[in-house]
Amino acid sequence: MRKIILASLLAAVTFGGIARADNFPSRPITIIVPFSAGGPSDAMARILAERMKTTLGESVLVENVTGAGGSIGVGRAVRSPPDGYTISFGHLGTHVANGAIYKLGYDLATDLEPVALLPSNPMIVVSKNAVPAKSLKELLEWLKSKPAPATAGTAGAGSGSHIAGLYFESVTGTKLQYVPYRGTGPAMNDLVAGQIDLIVDQLSNSINQVRAGNIRGYAVTDTKRAGSASDIPTTDEAGLPGFHMTLWSGLWAPKGTPRDIVAKLNAAAVDALNDPAVRAQLEKLGLQMPPNDKLSPQALGDWQKAEIAKWWPMIKAANVKVD
Ligand code: MLT
Repeated sequence: MRKIILASLLAAVTFGGIARADNFPSRPITIIVPFSAGGPSDAMARILAERMKTTLGESVLVENVTGAGGSIGVGRAVRSPPDGYTISFGHLGTHVANGAIYKLGYDLATDLEPVALLPSNPMIVVSKNAVPAKSLKELLEWLKSKPAPATAGTAGAGSGSHIAGLYFESVTGTKLQYVPYRGTGPAMNDLVAGQIDLIVDQLSNSINQVRAGNIRGYAVTDTKRAGSASDIPTTDEAGLPGFHMTLWSGLWAPKGTPRDIVAKLNAAAVDALNDPAVRAQLEKLGLQMPPNDKLSPQALGDWQKAEIAKWWPMIKAANVKVD
């Protein structure tokens, strides 16, 4: 009798572990988006969350935790229990650039488990309509003629719009005065209102405002025109050859999240990306799907490490000051 009790206790403990992964998820999951609601990251996360819940059989909620170029939201995810119920949405800015700018208190490459690479956004150079320029060439002339730097909206130091701005400055020899917001959603509101001069923005955030004629789009930072904005030239065509940048996004889980739970989250994200209705929504925003051979958690980890090696030198050379 004593042996049976010990055996079942042992089984319960053992299988409890496995059972925990087996009955994952048994309550809603939260994706932490480190930028404001209504911006490009938020829009993509909400489209994916809506479809991921079908695969996971549980609600997938989006929580916006903003500030410091997205590093505060990522920090919240890093410090969350490694049980799969809190995951981190981020991108080249939050999960690469910020490590070269902030004293984060966490390591982007080792304190998070990669889950899945998500779609990427070509960037687009946009300005308020009052800027006296109808082409990228004229915009560069205007920027260089101005006695004071033009104001450029960003989602904070290290964000995608900031890194793109730094890169734009370095290839054009212009100087920009950055105006930080908690996301490019609110920055866009001020651009439409003419409060700031320009943004080097994610296409998915600007495309509808450009189409509506509320702002002016000059060029997309990709080698080919965006299917959803074929009237807008590439930087190569517009006279800034080689200024190429696409902002990739991804999902991560806290370090120590069991491998099979990461696998379930990955499967749900991949299902969403392969869903024709979801793809149509994302492509209409100008987003580019990640290649199929880059959809494993491992592939995201390798890609992130390669991007850290590529971008940190440029970012560190820019000597970005943060409080
Ligand atoms: C946002 O969603 O606001 C963006 O991803 C911010 C950025 O990195 O530019």
